[in-house]
Amino acid sequence: MLTGIVIGEESEERPRPILVTGAASGIGRCAAEVLAARGHPVAVTDRDGDGAEKAAAAIRDAGGAAHAFLLDVTDAATIRAAVAEAAARLGGLGGLVNNAGWTLNVPLEDHDDDLVDTLLAINLSGTIKVTREVVPVLREWGDGRIVNVASDSARTGMSNGAAYTAAKGGVLALTRSLARELARDEITVNAVSPGIVDTPLLADSMRQAPGMLDKLRRGIPMRRLGTPADVASAIAYFCGPGAGYVTGQTLSVSGGMVIV
Ligand SMILES: NC(=O)c1ccc[n+]([C@@H]2O[C@H](COP(=O)([O-])OP(=O)(O)OC[C@H]3O[C@@H](n4cnc5c(N)ncnc54)[C@H](O)[C@@H]3O)[C@@H](O)[C@H]2O)c1
Repeated sequence: MLTGIVIGEESEERPRPILVTGAASGIGRCAAEVLAARGHPVAVTDRDGDGAEKAAAAIRDAGGAAHAFLLDVTDAATIRAAVAEAAARLGGLGGLVNNAGWTLNVPLEDHDDDLVDTLLAINLSGTIKVTREVVPVLREWGDGRIVNVASDSARTGMSNGAAYTAAKGGVLALTRSLARELARDEITVNAVSPGIVDTPLLADSMRQAPGMLDKLRRGIPMRRLGTPADVASAIAYFCGPGAGYVTGQTLSVSGGMVIV
């Protein structure tokens, strides 16, 4: 007899509503789609409100449950408002995907104060501030799943990405610390760490460095860029019912670029 093992599709008694930041584009949008396809009601949030509306509408057209909310991770007022409205609209929140991010390829000497502050604010402080707002709502839900989207560039190092990689290294440390702090609340905290993924952000950051993308591709053991879907399925794993005893972990999704 198999005790406590359910054979068949994973399912939850109460579909877990999940808020995704930066969900108007790329990895975040795809994560919202995959989560919705797996039955999660999704709060599609972004600083690009129109983009969030379009992404949520596409999910609804495909039969999923999604609502859009304007949320800029550097703006406390939009964080507070979006989290409160999302919880009210979706019947609580049981998960958070901290995905919003931005980078620019520049050498250290071109990191002026504004750029350093912006890169840290979006990629690191924003993650802390959104999480701080969402955790009490997860406690009300009864347990929770937090997935932070980091970057393998923080583990391998990356030229022309000083503040970005420092911020993403901070996200990895934050993941481990919050995993310990929130474990008693049955809130898991894990990181998905993408390698090089074909998204608008990658295209933008490569515009200043022609030829760089081919060089990067040759350095990936699988010899191909990642897709948003590659990363989204790792995010969905950490949000799913099978990952409830997994916390504080970093999962590289990089075609073999980072193997530890
Ligand atoms: N594409 C890659 O190769 C790659 C590699 C490693 C890590 N990542 C990380 O993956 C995540 C998603 O990146 P992507 O490649 O899908 O980029 P993307 O530009 O396609 O999407 C990022 C989304 O975040 C939103 N955003 C940016 N700043 C925001 C803010 N202040 N508040 C709210 N939303 C904001 C943007 O509007 C956009 O919709 C980021 O955290 C990025 O650092 C990407």
